[in-house]
Amino acid sequence: MLPFTRPTISQEEIDAVSDVLRSGWLASGPKVKEFEAKLADFIGGGTQVRTFNSGTAALEAALIASGIGPGDEVIVPAMSFVASANVVLRVGATPVFVDVDLRSRNLDIEKVKPAVTDKTRAIMPVHFSGLPVDMDPIYKLASDSGYVVIEDACHAIGSNYKGNGIGSAGNPVCFSFHPNKNMTTIEGGALACSDKNFMAQIERLRFHGIERDAQGEILVSEWGGKMNLSDVSAALGIVQLDKLEGWNQARTHLAQRYFRHLPDHPALIKPQDGDGHSWHMFCVCIDSAALGMERQEIVAYFNDRGVAVGAHYPAMHLFPLYRKLGYGPGSCPNAERIGTQTFTLPLFPTMTDSDVDLVCEAVHGLFSERGQ
Ligand SMILES: Cc1ncc(COP(=O)(O)O)c(C=O)c1O
Repeated sequence: MLPFTRPTISQEEIDAVSDVLRSGWLASGPKVKEFEAKLADFIGGGTQVRTFNSGTAALEAALIASGIGPGDEVIVPAMSFVASANVVLRVGATPVFVDVDLRSRNLDIEKVKPAVTDKTRAIMPVHFSGLPVDMDPIYKLASDSGYVVIEDACHAIGSNYKGNGIGSAGNPVCFSFHPNKNMTTIEGGALACSDKNFMAQIERLRFHGIERDAQGEILVSEWGGKMNLSDVSAALGIVQLDKLEGWNQARTHLAQRYFRHLPDHPALIKPQDGDGHSWHMFCVCIDSAALGMERQEIVAYFNDRGVAVGAHYPAMHLFPLYRKLGYGPGSCPNAERIGTQTFTLPLFPTMTDSDVDLVCEAVHGLFSERGQ
C-alpha cells in the first residue's frame, strides 16, 4: 500500500542519533544549540530560533510570551489541525474561528475583518499544507487594530513568502517536526522570532522559568514549563535540515505531476498552487454525494488500488469541545465542506513518478466509473 506520507530516514540519520546516544549527553545540550543556529541560518532574516518538544508547545509559549490569557480572543482558521485552537484554550483565551478559502484552505482576510472585536489580541494564520498565507494584509490589519500575529507554520518549514523564508520577517512563527512533516525530529518544534527580549522569555518559558543570575546561579521569577527538545532529536533534525531543500523540490516536482495528470471534474477540487509552496500535503476535495458514494467507499476504492489516503482535517469548530462555544453547522461553510470532502493524496520525497501515476489512475477510474 502506498502510504500518504512517510518520513525519510537513512543511515546518516541513524548514525547521527547513535553518536548522541553514545555521547553521554541526551537531553538539551550542544546538538540543540547547533540545530537552533542552523535553523536560524536556514530561515534567514537574522531571526533567532528556539526549539521545543512539539509545535504545539512552541505555539503555547508564543501565546504566553505575547501576554495572551483569559478574556482575550484569538482568531484562528476553522480548517487546521485541532492543536491550532487547543493552544488558545490552554492559555485561557477564546479561539474565534474564521472560514478559509476553499482551494487554498488559508484564512480569508475578508472574513477576518468582521471577526475582530475589542477583545481580539492575536491572530494565528496557518500556512496550510505549506502554501504561504498572503501575510501583508494580515500584518496591516493587525497593526491597525493593535493585536499581534503568531504564524502557525507547522506545515511550512522551507516555505517562502515573496521570496523570503517563512519565519524570517521578525514576528513569532512556529514550526513542527512531527514525523509527517517535511522534516522530522520524531516529535519536535521550533519558534523563530527576532525580538531578543521575547526570545529570552521564550527560553525561560520552555524550561521551568529558569534563568541565571550574574554569578551563574539558577533564578526562577516566573512560571515555565518543560518543553525543551532533546539532543537526540536535535541530531536527527540537523541531518534532516541539510536535506530539506532537496526534499521540498522533490515534493514540488510530484505536486506538479499531480496537477498535470489528475482529471478535471466538477466534483474534484484541486489544491491551490503558489509561489513559495513547500508542498507538505496534496489535499483534494471529492464530492462523494455527486458520485453517489459514501466517503468510506471512496477510501476503500483507493485502498483497493493500493493507495492510502488521509483526511486533513475535520473542521475544528464542529468538534464537541468547540460547539460549546456556540459554533455549529453553517458557521464556517468552506471549512465544513473541506472537512467532509477532503482526501490527502500520497506525497513524500521518496515517491516516484509512477507512484503519482498510480494515484492519478485511481482518481481517473473513480470519476470514469462513478462520475456523471
Ligand atoms: C497546523 C498545525 N499546527 C500545529 C500542529 C502541532 O504540531 P505538533 O504535532 O508538533 O505538536 C500541527 C501538527 O500537525 C499542525 O498541523
